[in-house]
Amino acid sequence: MDGNGRWAQQRGLPRLMGHHEGANSIRECVEACQQAGVQYLTLYAFSLENWKRPRTEVKGLMGLLERFLRERTDEIAQKGICLRAIGRLQDLPEPCHKLLSEALRKTAENRGLTLILALSYGSRTEIVDAIKNIAEQAIDGKIQPDQINDQTVADHLYTKGVPDPDLLIRTSGEMRLSNFLLWQLSYTEIYVTQKLWPDFRAADLQRALQDYNTRHRRYGGI
Ligand code: IPE
Ligand code: MG
Repeated sequence: MDGNGRWAQQRGLPRLMGHHEGANSIRECVEACQQAGVQYLTLYAFSLENWKRPRTEVKGLMGLLERFLRERTDEIAQKGICLRAIGRLQDLPEPCHKLLSEALRKTAENRGLTLILALSYGSRTEIVDAIKNIAEQAIDGKIQPDQINDQTVADHLYTKGVPDPDLLIRTSGEMRLSNFLLWQLSYTEIYVTQKLWPDFRAADLQRALQDYNTRHRRYGGI
């Protein structure tokens, strides 16, 4: 969800106002996904690298997350959405961590859209953690190294049980993956839009889905 800072800057507003406005894009896109029958939506809300930002911005973002969870959990639960989170969740400030755990618990049985929040998320760290875990099991004799395959790795990632994404939407025209789901995106279709995240709304999401529907996925075949 890139471009919040630039959106604010263009209007002479503080960066946090861009993040604030971006929350409205989240609401619209979640609804548009539900209407379109999308089963999984993952939002890259905060990366491990984002901790390097100025303290005030980090604090502001965590404040927004706290507010989002406080104000929106019941609505999310009522809409049948199952909330999940990926990343180093223990890094989050205590109030966020607590609200998030409650939200995950409250929505765990829901069978509508699965909304996955990537928080304090870094893909390389996720892969490194998976490797450590698999290595420990190999040392303990629970797993044979020659039996390790794609599925073994996938089963040790935070996204265990979640299908690989079909479509990656990249806002603000950036042409990079920024340490997001590197393993899972191997065959994902990429859609890049110049729109800044706060300007990316339901109609934009529908356009991205329409574009996706014109793609011919070959997975290395012909
Ligand atoms: C949102 O956009 C990303 C996060 C929520 C951390 P940015 O804050 O990266 O916006 P730009 O790239 O400065 O425009
Ligand atoms: Mg950015």
